[in-house]
Amino acid sequence: MSNDQIDLFSLAEDSQPAPAVDPDLIPTSAKVPIPPGTYASMEAMSLHCNQCQRCELGATRTHAVVGRGNPQADLMIVGEGPGQNEDETGLPFVGKAGQLLDKILESVKLSEADVFICNIVKCRPPGNRTPTQEEMDACRPYLLEQIRMVDPRIILLSGASAVRGLVGDKRGITKIRGEWLEWQDRLCMPVFHPAYLLRNPSREKGSPKWLMWQDIQTVRTKLDELRSQQ
Ligand code: URA
Repeated sequence: MSNDQIDLFSLAEDSQPAPAVDPDLIPTSAKVPIPPGTYASMEAMSLHCNQCQRCELGATRTHAVVGRGNPQADLMIVGEGPGQNEDETGLPFVGKAGQLLDKILESVKLSEADVFICNIVKCRPPGNRTPTQEEMDACRPYLLEQIRMVDPRIILLSGASAVRGLVGDKRGITKIRGEWLEWQDRLCMPVFHPAYLLRNPSREKGSPKWLMWQDIQTVRTKLDELRSQQ
C-alpha cells in the first residue's frame, strides 16, 4: 500500500461521526438506577431518553419527548405523557391540549419563558392509553433529574397521572385539585388536565374550566409572592 492510500483510508475513518452517547452508559433496564446528578443538561438526558428501553414504550416511540420551555423556570408543568403530535415532533403539549395549556398560562400572563413543560413518561403510550405504574416507575428517574436541574419553586401537576406518577397520591383529580401539596420541600398544585377541559367546555361557575381558572390564579399569586421574596 502506498502512503497516499494509507492517508486516504485514515481520512475516511476520521470522518465517521462520533457515537452520540456511550452505549455502555445507557440505563436500558428499569432495574438499573439512574443516580441523581447523572445529567448535566436536558440535552444530555434527551440523548439517553431517545435510546432508552427501560420500559416497552421505547419500542413504539418516534421521539422521546423530554421538555420545552425555560430549563431555569420557577414553574414546572408536568403532564401525563406524549400524544401523537408530541411523538412526531419530540415536543410536549403541542397538540390541542397543549394549545389550551398555552392559553391558560397566557390568561395569567405566563409565557414559555416562565415555565418548563414535561411529562411523567417521555414516550407515547400506544393509542394514548394511560401509562402503567411500571412505565411511570421506569421513567421516574428522568423526571427527578429534570426537577433537580430546573429546580422549580412550584410544580403544576396536570391530571391524575401526574399526581400519581410524582407524588404517589392515587386520589381522583376532582378530589385533590386546587389544594397545595408539599413534596420534597416543593410546592405542587394538582390541576385538571387540559384534555379534560376540552371534553368539558362549559365555563359556568363550578365547572372544570372555571375551577382551572381559580387554580391558575392561585398559582400565579403564589409565584408572585415567591418571586418578591427573592
Ligand atoms: N397530554 C399530555 O399529558 N402531555 C403532552 O405532552 C400532550 C398531551
